[in-house]
Amino acid sequence: MKILVVGNGGREHAIAWALLRSPKVKQAICIPGNGGTAQLERCRNMPMRVDDFEGIARFALVQGASFVVVGPELPLARGISDYLRKQDVKVFGPTLAGAEIEASKTWAKNLMIEAGIPTGRSQTFTDREAAQTYVSEQGAPIVVKADGLAAGKGVVVAQTIAEAQDAIAALWQQGFHKLAIEEFLTGQEVSVLALTDGKTIRPLLPAQDHKQIGEGDTGPNTGGMGVYAPTPLVSPELLQNIQKTILEPAITTLNARGIDYRGILYAGLMIDGDNNCRVLEFNCRFGDPETQAILPLLETPLHEVILACIEQRLDQIPPLQWHEGSAVCVVAASEGYPGSYAKGFPIQGIDAAEATGAMVFHAGTKYQNPQTLTDGGRVLGVTGVGDSFNDAIALAYQAIDKIEFDGIYYRRDIGHRLKAS
Ligand code: AMP
Ligand code: GLY
Repeated sequence: MKILVVGNGGREHAIAWALLRSPKVKQAICIPGNGGTAQLERCRNMPMRVDDFEGIARFALVQGASFVVVGPELPLARGISDYLRKQDVKVFGPTLAGAEIEASKTWAKNLMIEAGIPTGRSQTFTDREAAQTYVSEQGAPIVVKADGLAAGKGVVVAQTIAEAQDAIAALWQQGFHKLAIEEFLTGQEVSVLALTDGKTIRPLLPAQDHKQIGEGDTGPNTGGMGVYAPTPLVSPELLQNIQKTILEPAITTLNARGIDYRGILYAGLMIDGDNNCRVLEFNCRFGDPETQAILPLLETPLHEVILACIEQRLDQIPPLQWHEGSAVCVVAASEGYPGSYAKGFPIQGIDAAEATGAMVFHAGTKYQNPQTLTDGGRVLGVTGVGDSFNDAIALAYQAIDKIEFDGIYYRRDIGHRLKAS
């Protein structure tokens, strides 16, 4: 089998790596890939834009690819899956209509309300002054969300009314003229990613991300600075409950809208002290860095489950098999991220990090033989797998401590909420 993976992040490196664990997968080709996928055995990069649908379809047909896995939300929201399906190229990832669940906060909120899925109260505004009046009436803390893909920068959790007003003004100025103002929810955040073929939906191991840049969960939100799986915050009973009250109703309602959703449905959940779960957001793709902790624990061959989703026979495959232990992924970022940062610095110590037994997934890197250079905000994700959470975390830090580049930054407290509990 030859499989194409669209994207260039740590998530796509982890997907390619997981696919290649099976000897049945002869080659993975990443479009455009990164420095890690360039150096991975049986993997290569193809320099093409992720929104060059015609080029990707042609390439997939010429290569005789078994299927295409789409990593990021952008090509999904622009209709890559619709295009590939029309060209008879098998693809894992929802159509443009399905990707609305991530691309439009208000569309997703309406779907949740229609499906009876628990979520925070929210109001949509297309009038800036009305939005500002509403936050003054509601008070703070309150959450301001841009309707539309904003690369993780479209949500502001405002602690004061003034902050909320500033967020509305700033988003408006950036061209977001449809805003959702949402009730502030408290609790612990978890990510439940699920595989679906549009009829059956099966959750993967629940994970806990660390969104903020600073230790102790301080500072601005990022794409994710570290993650562990499985999180004990979601017991098997709670996961079943999430399946019944969130995942299945979502699929039923997508179906009722005529949407044939085959891919990952990712529910970002807030769980309060009484184990009540409410949906903060849905994403239409694998999480990053969640994937870098979840896939190393998956023992069932990834290509088999993906193909079962594409061919709508997920109900016929046996339950997913998982490694018993835990995985922790710590992200190394460039100084300045999530703001502006410099790139092009040589990275040292990757081999030494891998020699500990940890996995080094590249995100923003590029390979310039013989050097690997930094090429983005989130540079690497180092994953330790262990029999226990403590073993996994010790391994991840032992490995990441061996990596060096100018301006390297990583949080030292990934997993702190678990340690504290
Ligand atoms: P979203 O992209 O909607 O998940 O929002 C990004 C982040 O903002 C989430 O991961 C949460 O940390 C935070 N957030 C979003 N909505 C809420 C909410 N209603 N209450 C509290 N925090 C939220
Ligand atoms: N780690 C958060 C996300 O993938 O959206």
